[in-house]
Amino acid sequence: MFRLANVSRAIVSVVIPASFIAAQPILAAAGEDPTEVAAAIVDKQYSEQEMDVKRLFASRCSWCHQGYGMKQADGPRLAGTLLSRDEVMDRIARGRSPMPGFRKQLKPFQIEALADYIKALPTD
Ligand code: HEC
Repeated sequence: MFRLANVSRAIVSVVIPASFIAAQPILAAAGEDPTEVAAAIVDKQYSEQEMDVKRLFASRCSWCHQGYGMKQADGPRLAGTLLSRDEVMDRIARGRSPMPGFRKQLKPFQIEALADYIKALPTD
């Protein structure tokens, strides 16, 4: 009885984390929320800087670019931009009226992360 309980506990502790980990790519591939998928990639890429790119976007960009870049508002929808990654970085840094430039407020890696995030959003 005692041994059986220990064995089943051991099985549960192996099986649950394994299926949990296996579900992650499937959930990501299902793409319930494409902003979460894009942010997960970027946050991982910039994990040394403890990046939370959606929080950064919300604090600086959501004012004009809504739905985390998915919806047109005062500023255009950013998902599917025809600008290259470098051009996106340049636009964020220097702005273009009426969008302000952010090179004085943001660090270069933050501008890069925002550009990577925008380019990771779906294009259609
Ligand atoms: C005050 C409103 C405002 C804020 C804040 C703002 N933007 Fe913009 N943004 C705009 C407008 C308006 C445009 C279109 C300007 C133009 O004619 O090119 C634009 C254009 C862009 C473009 C070019 C899109 C394209 O395909 O041409 C990018 C990229 C962009 N914004 C990213 C950002 C990011 C990232 C932030 C936050 C760091 C941000 N913006 C903050 C208003 C804003």
